[in-house]
Amino acid sequence: MNTSAPGSAPSVLVIVGGSMAAVKAPAVLRRLRERGARVQVIATQSALAFITELSLATAADGEVATDATWFEPRPDAQHLTLARVDAAVVVGASADLLARAAGGRASDLASATLLSVAGPVLWVPAMNERMWRHPAVQANVARLRGWGHHFLGPEVGAFGTRGEGAGLGRMAEPEDIAAATLALLHPPRPHDLAGLKVVVSAGPTREYLDPVRFISNPSSGKMGFAVAEEARSRGAEVVLVTGPVSLSDPPGIQVTRIETALELRDAVLEAARDADLVVMTAAVADYRAAERASEKQAKVAGDVTIRLTPNPDILAELGQQKGNRVLVGFAMETHAGIERAALKAQRKNADFILLNYPTREGTAFGGDDNEVTLVRPDGTFEEWPRLSKREVARRLLDEAVRIRNKQRPET
Ligand code: C5P
Repeated sequence: MNTSAPGSAPSVLVIVGGSMAAVKAPAVLRRLRERGARVQVIATQSALAFITELSLATAADGEVATDATWFEPRPDAQHLTLARVDAAVVVGASADLLARAAGGRASDLASATLLSVAGPVLWVPAMNERMWRHPAVQANVARLRGWGHHFLGPEVGAFGTRGEGAGLGRMAEPEDIAAATLALLHPPRPHDLAGLKVVVSAGPTREYLDPVRFISNPSSGKMGFAVAEEARSRGAEVVLVTGPVSLSDPPGIQVTRIETALELRDAVLEAARDADLVVMTAAVADYRAAERASEKQAKVAGDVTIRLTPNPDILAELGQQKGNRVLVGFAMETHAGIERAALKAQRKNADFILLNYPTREGTAFGGDDNEVTLVRPDGTFEEWPRLSKREVARRLLDEAVRIRNKQRPET
């Protein structure tokens, strides 16, 4: 989740782990602040054996959250409030903290917070070389990497209070940690969509019953806008066709605003003619009124029956004349999701469908995050962790590029 307005100071959560390298945490905090970041700190119980709360608070110019503050009576859930940052960095990450995070534990403030950080997470481990190389630790690292977490170090060199450690295990330098953390917020994106045309549909449709009443849904358009912006930043020519949403036009993108599914269809089919990738994130209403009254309908006593007629399935239509285009759909299901999404991908001839769930708090409709499962027509699937919608957009485009490259090995 990006909590900063464009141009404002990025917010970084620094988690200090229980390793000797915790003594370097104040220097990391200072370097981050020098680079313009707003910092918040969590110190684990064992970190406090190596470094005082006061040194950390002084370097952060703020409070230090600990397991003790987690259990203070307070109006907010501290592990959720602290997770609302642009990036998190774990300084002096110990084998145990890695294990707690990889195991999905929420047994202390640090691990509980790590479960809900939506932005990128950078681990900066520091531990004895034999511990670092142990298969248990390496399996945890691999698991975290698989979830998109980043790692810096450990490095080779002398470490420990008496220089007793030598070899691999030394923590990276504070300057490098600060630079690597902030680089995660503006990673150099590949220009892998240069020369390609991407069409994205977003938001809800409105199916009017009369001039002032319509059937719709709560889609915010955030997912589609994130896909459009990410595709643009990777060099694509982007056409965004959106239903009524409160988001403003992103720069550099051709935006067409529509209301009904029929208007969406016309705009998408027209734009898709010479497109290389079409991403249908729009929550298209399945039905529209069979008759749309031209005058506002007066209230009558008793029940009213509205006859609905199905809307054309735009994704399926695109699938019928697929050509070399990569086609991606979204689906929202409350049950039997994977099976139904695979059938949908087959039926609509889509390359894959991102399945999401309407019931998970902070995700899907209106949320800044999304928790999706990538489902292919052959029924294979990948469950992605909860990610910011921008990160979902990145991974979606990575997969689309992979599919395109497979189809055209010569390019
Ligand atoms: O069948 P379902 O509505 O769940 O399919 C969802 C996918 O199909 C989404 O990508 C949506 O944008 C697209 N769709 C469409 N036209 C419709 C209904 C859905 O393109 N009439």
